[in-house]
Amino acid sequence: MLAGATGDLGGRIVKHLRQRGAIVRALVRAGSAAPAVASLREQGATIIEVDFNDEAQLTKACSGATCVVSAVSGLREVIVEMQTRLLQAAVAAGVPRFIPSDYCIDYTKLPVGSNRNLDLRREFSERLDKAPIRATSILNGMFSDLLTGQAPVILFKFKRVVYWGNADQALDFTTTEDTAAFTAAAALDATTPRFLRVAGEVATIRGLQVVASAVTGEQFRLFRVGGLGAFGTLIKVTRALMPTSDDVFPPWQGMQYLHNMFSGLPKLEPLDNARYPDIRWTPVREVLANREQVPE
Ligand SMILES: NC(=O)c1ccc[n+]([C@@H]2O[C@H](COP(=O)([O-])OP(=O)(O)OC[C@H]3O[C@@H](n4cnc5c(N)ncnc54)[C@H](OP(=O)(O)O)[C@@H]3O)[C@@H](O)[C@H]2O)c1
Repeated sequence: MLAGATGDLGGRIVKHLRQRGAIVRALVRAGSAAPAVASLREQGATIIEVDFNDEAQLTKACSGATCVVSAVSGLREVIVEMQTRLLQAAVAAGVPRFIPSDYCIDYTKLPVGSNRNLDLRREFSERLDKAPIRATSILNGMFSDLLTGQAPVILFKFKRVVYWGNADQALDFTTTEDTAAFTAAAALDATTPRFLRVAGEVATIRGLQVVASAVTGEQFRLFRVGGLGAFGTLIKVTRALMPTSDDVFPPWQGMQYLHNMFSGLPKLEPLDNARYPDIRWTPVREVLANREQVPE
């Protein structure tokens, strides 16, 4: 059973669950985009429209499920409060397993206050750990897809790979699709531990420079903006200057994520990549080679 199935990751998890022959129930809220709901239906998921504020409705929807998978996205109201209602409903309905919407770097190794969105995941995980249900978090580093757009690391136009700190720091990248494939396999595996860690590729900034140069046929250069201390200060200043908003991923949050990764603290280890041998991990090279090219 899935919450967040109308989202990017959630829709892909549904697809992989169906490919593995699972019966899938997608909980969607009234007002979810019709095309996303239609696509879930086409894939063979049973759509259950629920009010996510109503625990009784959630409990009824969870009844008989073997695993609740959450792929919702949001801030405190969603990640802590709504997921808590979903958790309580899963427990009340006697669902044996719960996969929270983590899908990130290893927040258990990060200092509190270093990443707003991951602090919310930690807070929910404390509630999850107290609940009488078996929980599994999927940790996958950064979605490698972000390297072709949102993450300001590989600047294709300027042929630069931008970083802070150490160009040889190992960083974890997994595509959204591979994360979904692994999550689906984990959802159907009754023996999963509390954490599963995967990385489609572990790459350094220097490695990204080589790959970006190889796929474009142009020589990329490294651009070290500064050390991690200066990066931390820049993040604080950017956050202070930006008006507060409900944006889940404001620029300073992406900066916090990169700062965390460049620090090496949330590096995933050991990796569970080999747990489901049928999953092929997409290398960063393939992601960069298949990027949509923006005319210069
Ligand atoms: N590691 C990484 O680099 C990385 C990058 C991106 C995302 N992620 C993580 O992946 C997970 C999924 O992200 P995504 O990009 O797939 O998100 P998304 O496309 O924005 O989808 C979010 C889903 O959450 C649902 N949702 C939001 N608020 C809700 C609420 N109040 N009640 C019920 N459902 C609600 C949405 O439903 P509606 O369709 O009704 O709005 C949608 O199904 C999140 O944990 C996100 O942080 C990780």
